Amino acid sequence: MKPKILITGPMQEKGYNLISRYFTLEGDIQKIMGRDDVLKALRDKDGLMLVSHVVVNSELLDAAPNLKVVSSVSVGFDHIDINETTKRGVYVCNTAGALTDCVAEVALELILSTYKRMSEAERFMRDRKWTRIFLGDEFLGRDVKGKVLGIVGLGRIGSRVAEIAKVFGMKVIYYDIIRPKYAEEMGLEFYDLNALMKASDIISIHIPLSNETRHLIDESKLKLMKKDAIIVNTSRGPIIEEKALIKALKEKTILGAGLDVFEEEPLPLDSELLRFENVVLSPHRGSASYETRAAMSELAARNLIAALSGEMPPALVNRDVLKVRPLSEIKMI
Ligand code: DGY
Repeated sequence: MKPKILITGPMQEKGYNLISRYFTLEGDIQKIMGRDDVLKALRDKDGLMLVSHVVVNSELLDAAPNLKVVSSVSVGFDHIDINETTKRGVYVCNTAGALTDCVAEVALELILSTYKRMSEAERFMRDRKWTRIFLGDEFLGRDVKGKVLGIVGLGRIGSRVAEIAKVFGMKVIYYDIIRPKYAEEMGLEFYDLNALMKASDIISIHIPLSNETRHLIDESKLKLMKKDAIIVNTSRGPIIEEKALIKALKEKTILGAGLDVFEEEPLPLDSELLRFENVVLSPHRGSASYETRAAMSELAARNLIAALSGEMPPALVNRDVLKVRPLSEIKMI
């Protein structure tokens, strides 16, 4: 009998076709499933293909006694309780590597749009306000060339942003809890977080969300920023304390922000962030490209297939699970 997999929403064809060869699939591939339906459907499932960010916690795991693998079609895994899944011998996989370029490009897009006031200028045109030729200081932005880019989190995505930024002529500095060897090879200077906040003209956030990083960029950190500096976030909203960011924008203690992620998503329609001209907003679309979404779905499928074949999944998050339940014990195909 084929292993039973629950799929929680629409998935790109590439990955879907792959898993449908190996597994009996159940779920809704037209729309995102609600949590209650996910919990009900998990009773007899061996694997979970998480297309949406359903929270995987004790409650969900209790409802899924046969569950062996959670394959999330995302690089972020802050919606998954890693301690609990590991303790119960459930393998957790993500799509690390598949979306590096796409997210890095969106970070650059937000840096350029914010620094050069692109959204503001576009709104101006769409509002039919461009009625005379500009000669003076209308819509003056800033050049990134020669500016200091402070990268918070020099993992795959952060280092790709650094690589591109250097081509633009930016001086790149970074903060991370580790100092990877490649930082030196790339000629990037390490700064502690406070020093980076002070020294940067542009700050770009590339760390995962965890209890340690929630509100890492709080009021005290934002206060360190230069008055003409911007901050860009393509990782997870709660890393920046949004209330403090709104305060900084209101009091004009910083120049602007480019945001793809928010503390609450979708962004509440009455959010004050929607009112600022100098904030560029994007609806959590860091991985939204045809190529990347196809690659993510393929990797998520390969994770599931490998694990249930008793082989090492290409992107296993909780390596400690190998000690709790060896791969041979979850092999079904
Ligand atoms: C990710 O992969 O984590 C992206 O943010 C999409 O969820």
